[in-house]
Amino acid sequence: MSTPSLAAGNRGLNSVVTKFFGTVARAYDTRPLQYIVYRPPQDEMVAELRAAGSRRIADIGCGTGILTARIQRELRPEAVYGVDASTGMLAQARARNAQVRWLHSPAEQLPLTDGALDAVVTTSAFHFFDHPVALREFHRVLVPGGLVAIATMLPSSPTAGPIQRITRSPIMPAHAPSQRATRKLLEDAGFEVVAQRKIHRPLPTWLIPDGITIGRRR
Ligand SMILES: C[S@@+](CC[C@H](N)C(=O)[O-])C[C@H]1O[C@@H](n2cnc3c(N)ncnc32)[C@H](O)[C@@H]1O
Repeated sequence: MSTPSLAAGNRGLNSVVTKFFGTVARAYDTRPLQYIVYRPPQDEMVAELRAAGSRRIADIGCGTGILTARIQRELRPEAVYGVDASTGMLAQARARNAQVRWLHSPAEQLPLTDGALDAVVTTSAFHFFDHPVALREFHRVLVPGGLVAIATMLPSSPTAGPIQRITRSPIMPAHAPSQRATRKLLEDAGFEVVAQRKIHRPLPTWLIPDGITIGRRR
């Protein structure tokens, strides 16, 4: 297995973000928050994975593992990995499902061998990653033709400005890429982008702006 080492700046950023999530892990699973914010992209991920017939899947930045556990329960793949850099979030994830292999790791340095996976998904977390480094890792751990599906906040709506300002603070240094930027990032990392759209939500999408980008490893 060849894994790149994580630069010191990334380690600092990861630890700030994941410490924050460690402290909010309990509040995270409340029903309204899940229904309004996190569930819609997760529904789209399950549909994409089902359509692709992926058998070895990782959910990166899995948080408390709601999507990861759903993938295991609903799709019954050969192997499911839930990867997160926050011990607090992972503690809740572990309690949720014993069949998922939970991995404490940053997205930028995955403890998986080259070509180990058919699909990598990530919801509501990509804006925290070092994009080129994480995408290089996704590419490395996927088989040729493997699926990458990224659902992430968009910077292009009226609410995105304030959200970005808050999340760019020293506590939450997020940096949501536009759809166009995400496409370019994927292409530069060796993926073909096969679909890109806004996430369908129970609220007007301008309130919680996010999009999904689907790629295939070249
Ligand atoms: C908003 S939560 C989303 C969790 C889950 N994917 C969902 O849809 O509910 C973001 C998660 O990303 C994780 N995270 C942030 N930066 C990360 C990184 N560089 N590597 C791995 N996980 C990271 C945080 O610890 C947190 O659990």
